[in-house]
Amino acid sequence: MTALQEPRTTRHVGPDHLVLSEHPVFRRFWYAVCAVDDVTTEPEPGRRGAAPLHRKVLGTDLVVWRPDPAGPVSVAHDRCAHRDAPLSMGWVADCRLVCAYHGWEWDADGTTRRIPQFPDSPHPTKSGLTMVASTERYGLVWVCLAGPDEGGPITDVPAVPEWDDPAWRRVPEGSWDFDCTAMHLVENNIDPGHVAFVHMNSFGNPDNPELTDQNVARTPYGLITWTDVPVEGRPGETGATVRHTWSQVHLPFSMHLLIRYPDGLGHVMLKAITPVDDRSCVIHQVVLRTDTEADRPAADIRAFDHQVELEDKTLLDRLPDGFPLAQHLNAHAKADKNSLLLRRMYTELVTGQWTPGDPA
Ligand code: FES
Ligand code: CO
Repeated sequence: MTALQEPRTTRHVGPDHLVLSEHPVFRRFWYAVCAVDDVTTEPEPGRRGAAPLHRKVLGTDLVVWRPDPAGPVSVAHDRCAHRDAPLSMGWVADCRLVCAYHGWEWDADGTTRRIPQFPDSPHPTKSGLTMVASTERYGLVWVCLAGPDEGGPITDVPAVPEWDDPAWRRVPEGSWDFDCTAMHLVENNIDPGHVAFVHMNSFGNPDNPELTDQNVARTPYGLITWTDVPVEGRPGETGATVRHTWSQVHLPFSMHLLIRYPDGLGHVMLKAITPVDDRSCVIHQVVLRTDTEADRPAADIRAFDHQVELEDKTLLDRLPDGFPLAQHLNAHAKADKNSLLLRRMYTELVTGQWTPGDPA
């Protein structure tokens, strides 16, 4: 942000809205921060080593790096204990993260290894990094902010059974930033009513908005909806068809969508939505398909989904910052059954009435 830009102000958040930073429970879930392939040990031109990544989750700045080409990523708070420099300004060399300010060095587990000004002097007790739990799954790096003192993660990274099934090919799609809450983006993804309108230039038809059925049920980890949505074509095709969609929400913000077309084509989407702060989020998306590259090139699928995400983004970025929990704040119609259950489950989650993993 330049000095000439107005700082962002928070829009329309009241006491009946869900504000993530008020509820530590959200720290106890896994969130995707980048693709595994984004974290490299290749030296960056102009640096003395590989570039670590900066990411933000629930308002916490993180540094993500890979100490060893053959090893897992490391994640820590993006602040040097010495004089507060962002560690993501540093570099990775010889399996160590190096701070850009005074060159202190740390191992993969955050242990201080070198203070270059007086290398033989003892390392101060507080010089180590504050590490964050991380894991690599489905080509993505996931983190959980809550350490053992906060109870650690409540659930595992959501299951994607198709990932290891040779009948499904993998199409990693990348990520999109949204200027809306993570809850708004989840709600949008289980909202069958918006397709005909928001996506009229990709696969929706505003003259064909009627839904024939809509079902939603609780699961131990969130909810599942199954709905037939009339659509115009599918990636790279035209012509009206019906998408049979089963959408599982793993609360709070991960989704597994299974779409079946009438000809049997299967299309799975892992939608890993990460809360950046109280008012913005990022979605990391991985697609799995039962057809082949010759049937439909991955580049076409990505281009189509890019258009779809931008259509949602154009609308969602203009919504208020507060995610309403109280029923009286909005009008609700028959097509909002999914949204109403989702909002109820967020309420139960933040009030401690329900925890993912409890019996449905
Ligand atoms: Fe990082 Fe001094 S601020 S080494
Ligand atoms: Co949409």
